[in-house]
Amino acid sequence: MAAPEPVFRRVAVIGLGLIGGSLASAMRKYRLAGTVVGFDRKAEDAALGVELGVIDEAAGSLEQAVQGSDLIVLAVPVRATRAVLEQIQPFLAEDAVLTDVGSTKSSFIADVEAVFGTLPANVIPGHPIAGSEKSGIRAANPELFAHHKVILTPADSAIPSGVSRLTALWEGTGATVLTMSVAYHDEVLAATSHLPHLIAFSLVDTLAGEDENMDIFRYAAGGFRDFTRIAASDPVMWHDIFLSNRDAVLRVIDHFTQDLDQLRSAIAAGDGATLLRVFSRAKAAREHFSKMLSGQAYVTNNSDKQVTFLMQPGGSVRGDIRVPGDKSMSHRSIMLGALAEGITEVKGFLEGEDSLATLQAFRDMGVTIEGPEDGFVRIHGVGMNGLQAPRGPLYLGNSGTAMRLFAGLLAAQPFDSELSGDTSLSKRPMGRVADPLRAMGAVIDTAEGGRPPLKIRGGQHLTGIHYDMPVASAQVKSCLLLAGLYAEGVTSVTEPAPTRDHTERMLQGFGYHVHHDGATASVTGGGKLTGGAIDVPADISSAAFFLVAASIAPDSDLTLRHVGMNPTRVGVINILRQMGADIEVLEERVIGGEPVADLRVRSASLKGIDIPEDQVPLAIDEFPVLFIAAACAEGRTVLRGAEELRVKESDRIQVMADGLAALGVETTVTPDGIIIDGGQTIGGGTIESHEDHRISMSFAVASLRANGPIRINDCANVATSFPGFVELAKQTGIQISTEGVQ
Ligand code: S3P
Repeated sequence: MAAPEPVFRRVAVIGLGLIGGSLASAMRKYRLAGTVVGFDRKAEDAALGVELGVIDEAAGSLEQAVQGSDLIVLAVPVRATRAVLEQIQPFLAEDAVLTDVGSTKSSFIADVEAVFGTLPANVIPGHPIAGSEKSGIRAANPELFAHHKVILTPADSAIPSGVSRLTALWEGTGATVLTMSVAYHDEVLAATSHLPHLIAFSLVDTLAGEDENMDIFRYAAGGFRDFTRIAASDPVMWHDIFLSNRDAVLRVIDHFTQDLDQLRSAIAAGDGATLLRVFSRAKAAREHFSKMLSGQAYVTNNSDKQVTFLMQPGGSVRGDIRVPGDKSMSHRSIMLGALAEGITEVKGFLEGEDSLATLQAFRDMGVTIEGPEDGFVRIHGVGMNGLQAPRGPLYLGNSGTAMRLFAGLLAAQPFDSELSGDTSLSKRPMGRVADPLRAMGAVIDTAEGGRPPLKIRGGQHLTGIHYDMPVASAQVKSCLLLAGLYAEGVTSVTEPAPTRDHTERMLQGFGYHVHHDGATASVTGGGKLTGGAIDVPADISSAAFFLVAASIAPDSDLTLRHVGMNPTRVGVINILRQMGADIEVLEERVIGGEPVADLRVRSASLKGIDIPEDQVPLAIDEFPVLFIAAACAEGRTVLRGAEELRVKESDRIQVMADGLAALGVETTVTPDGIIIDGGQTIGGGTIESHEDHRISMSFAVASLRANGPIRINDCANVATSFPGFVELAKQTGIQISTEGVQ
């Protein structure tokens, strides 16, 4: 087979320092260029380049390097760029691509425009985010760019084939290529690279000038060494960078000095609370660095990750496990803890991406939150009126609960706020909360059709209303009760059917009176919350996957510990028992105002039933896995009155029906439910989970009764509600493995 064509025929690398030399040697090693010609102001470096095998040929002049090359890479110090451009311009072939590797992009564009009079379409600025404190051609390393990012900042007028070839070249070195605007690049780099270098240079210089300098350096601990490693970087290069990226760097220095001043004042004033707030926010930020880099605060944008579940058929489910903490209660523990006076300590907090999004949003509003560490979180409440305006939009990932409950809370704050989410959340209806909040006096803008993002205007005076909820939704109820804490007078909500009452229970636990009258809950605004201890039980919605798994798999016997048994959540147990499941409820107890029990579940032969409509809101999140139970049961299961399932993280009626069909199980979809005739053979196949965590986990459970392997696509979102699902499923006997990044 012929070797693949190189991406460029002849590449001229001008400047054979660390970056130029490394790119040249990577192009040679990975055969990305037919010939690599090098030029350096110091002729001996070019000769050394040939000797070291970094380049194919050393050019004696710039003219010789550039002539006949179809790619020219400028790898010279930023402030030498203009002079080099002037010299090479007359010799550039018309269709040659010209790029650079400099750390500031607006200065490169300015130099090109000064020399060419315009920005030619074949000039494509570039910047590899890789380097080392070492410099010079001897440090050239063909692997320098592997697993690093390269940023290209092509203008709109840039020639597309040039952009794609340059992208292919950089990808060939093992780098990931991103494109962005020049201005954005320079802002981001000023913050993430230029400022840290400045601080390192400055700190080492300051300390070197102290009287005790010898001792400081002699006893320098690892932290000092790590922190100041980059102060050994090339001074000329960095002097160029700061002078060329002046404006962006000045902005970030101002920001930093202001924050440093604030810490100084806090230390001077003995203000430990400020120190703790800043340090714990920074610790969390550092720990979630990679997630933050995706620009989404601490919440991973799961649609960027590809995780596939691969299921082998059959197996039994046995053991003794505890599933992670309840998602609904975890959200609420942070919300009420933040608004309370004093400290709230939470045990059993769900470290899933949904509840972490809530936690992060409160940090962004100035609340000090320590943890989470093994489910333990300590919240330093700021009181009902202590939240501060966030610096930017609050990103809530995949979490509908967070967005709806936040809408109520934020409608009453003195500052403006914006709530955004991922692709799935951006499709979900928010009019159901925005409309009644507007009736209370809130000012909220939504995108078309009442979808996110929500833009909430602060400083509004809210007045209590009575609201008859058209849908049975705990999220809507909770949203209005939270807004009601701030409203004048009484806010009351009547629900058409009982929904989960964690907000009401937790409010009571924090000392805020909630009045109950049949299906109506009400609060009077103007009270206060008092922090305390919260013990979050295991999430019955996560336990549900294992309740069904152990019921349908032969020879199963599984105990689930410390499961939340709130009567508004036990629909799944009622329904499964009615289908004939063998579920024993053991050690019933009440912990922190919530009933909890251990559940022992053993294999049983299930039968189809008409699911009582009053159970629908009590099992609203468990239907995907209940459909799997129905498919394994004998006879027909009919679900009605469940149109709400169509507006969850996916349209759970249709997506489940499609998934079952992919495994050979026919069902009848109705507008508000589904009819499933159990006992059909469940085959192997490929499932599209539509990035819905509960769909992924339900089909993982289905594998126990399938007769072939099942592949489930787009499972990264399982981390929103059930981190560690794969390990726990494996531990109990479900034959699951994964493909892709987790
Ligand atoms: C939740 C309420 C339910 C549920 C969701 C969590 C809550 O939504 O589906 O997973 O924590 O209040 P609705 O109340 O909108 O049905």
